[in-house]
Amino acid sequence: MAREQWGTKLGFMLAAMGSAVGLGNIWRFSFVAGNNGGGAFLLLYLVFVFLIGIPLLLAEVSIGRKAKSDVIGSYQKLAPGTPWFLTGFFGVFSAFLILSFYAVVAGWSLYYLFHYITGDFFQAPAEGGYEGAFGGFITQEWQPLFWSALFMTMTIVIVFSGVKKGIETANKVFMPLLALLLLALAGVSLSLDGSMEGLSFLFRPDWSALTQPSIYVQALGQAFFSLSLGMGALLTYGSYLSDDKRLPGAAVGIGLMDTFFAVISGIVIFPAVFAFNIDPSSGPPLVFITLPSIFEQMPLGGIAGLLFFFALSLAALSSAISILEVPTAYFMRLFRWSRTKASVIVGVIMFFLGISVSLGFGIWSGITPIGERNILDSMDYIASNILLPLGGLSMALFVGWYFTKATALKAVDFGDNVIGNVWYGLVKYLLPVMIIIIFISSVL
Ligand code: PHE
Ligand code: NA
Repeated sequence: MAREQWGTKLGFMLAAMGSAVGLGNIWRFSFVAGNNGGGAFLLLYLVFVFLIGIPLLLAEVSIGRKAKSDVIGSYQKLAPGTPWFLTGFFGVFSAFLILSFYAVVAGWSLYYLFHYITGDFFQAPAEGGYEGAFGGFITQEWQPLFWSALFMTMTIVIVFSGVKKGIETANKVFMPLLALLLLALAGVSLSLDGSMEGLSFLFRPDWSALTQPSIYVQALGQAFFSLSLGMGALLTYGSYLSDDKRLPGAAVGIGLMDTFFAVISGIVIFPAVFAFNIDPSSGPPLVFITLPSIFEQMPLGGIAGLLFFFALSLAALSSAISILEVPTAYFMRLFRWSRTKASVIVGVIMFFLGISVSLGFGIWSGITPIGERNILDSMDYIASNILLPLGGLSMALFVGWYFTKATALKAVDFGDNVIGNVWYGLVKYLLPVMIIIIFISSVL
């Protein structure tokens, strides 16, 4: 059977942007920025996105487009008889880790959507407000699992329906919608009393935060997670791209779009965090408490909330399918499984892994695999801060050192000119060095 392909370059762009823009921009970005002091974190994050993220994104997509295979097969094909393919296993493994918690959080988003449809969340619940309602929900056993199962089912159905139709069309509609809603929310959030404090938290770096070694790993991990980098999601999407589509513009577009969503959601969240006296370091629940409080202050806020959680759920869905696609493509090739069989089996395993994540907020909250981190935070830590950067490091080394310079430049559609050489220098030297230094400093 011929390998599938994107209908158009725009289809690829939308799918890749759909992969990038997701819970990472709104949910993960705000709590990681909140935990790491705000402004200094944002600055580092932006530096990493532009210096490491976008150049690497280009490299990752080009590996897939050149090899036309999954994350493991691509290395086997381009570097036969070498151990390079082993790094592809990081990607497949990260996909299992990430989607199993991603689906739990996406389930929370569906739960909110449902309560905006019924109207229950138009006003803060009488007892304990939104904070109480959220805490009461995530600590239960069955309810969150139900929503996560529903989300995973939708993800599987889209993945087995094939690469093109579903993903391409959904993305065209919801991305502009999400952007509009976020801009409207930013307006409301900025008008709240005390919003200035939030803005200065986000935009006025507290330089002393930079002496904290963990902020570097966190910012790097956030850049990788948010750009869908280092796991092979974009490599796999790139493998459905024909050689005549130019890559550099696409890579920059994807990176800018993702950054836009992260910065806007920071402008939405932090003014509200300070206006409503919420602790910016309250971790993963942060947006689920802040956002509804903003909607409540807004004219037609109930409707806005409904549309917002609809758009957020779709954004999560278009990211989740790109994660599921990584092991699905691998197992389809490895075991000659059909797309349906591969996606169902992988998705079901991920759902079962996710059960522990969900229970980690309730009856299993005493289980803290890494330091003080609960199950979600631990899985997220390993995947985002360790596996994704290592996967990215390996991609940079592969393109920078295994390829010849001419091959590398050709793979990404650059000529041997200034831009091409800057990119090549970044990927070959600066990026590996930076990733390694950040690693070593975080361990010391
Ligand atoms: N980039 C996605 C987000 O921000 C998550 C993701 C991570 C997708 C890794 C694919 C690979 O939500
Ligand atoms: Na993102």
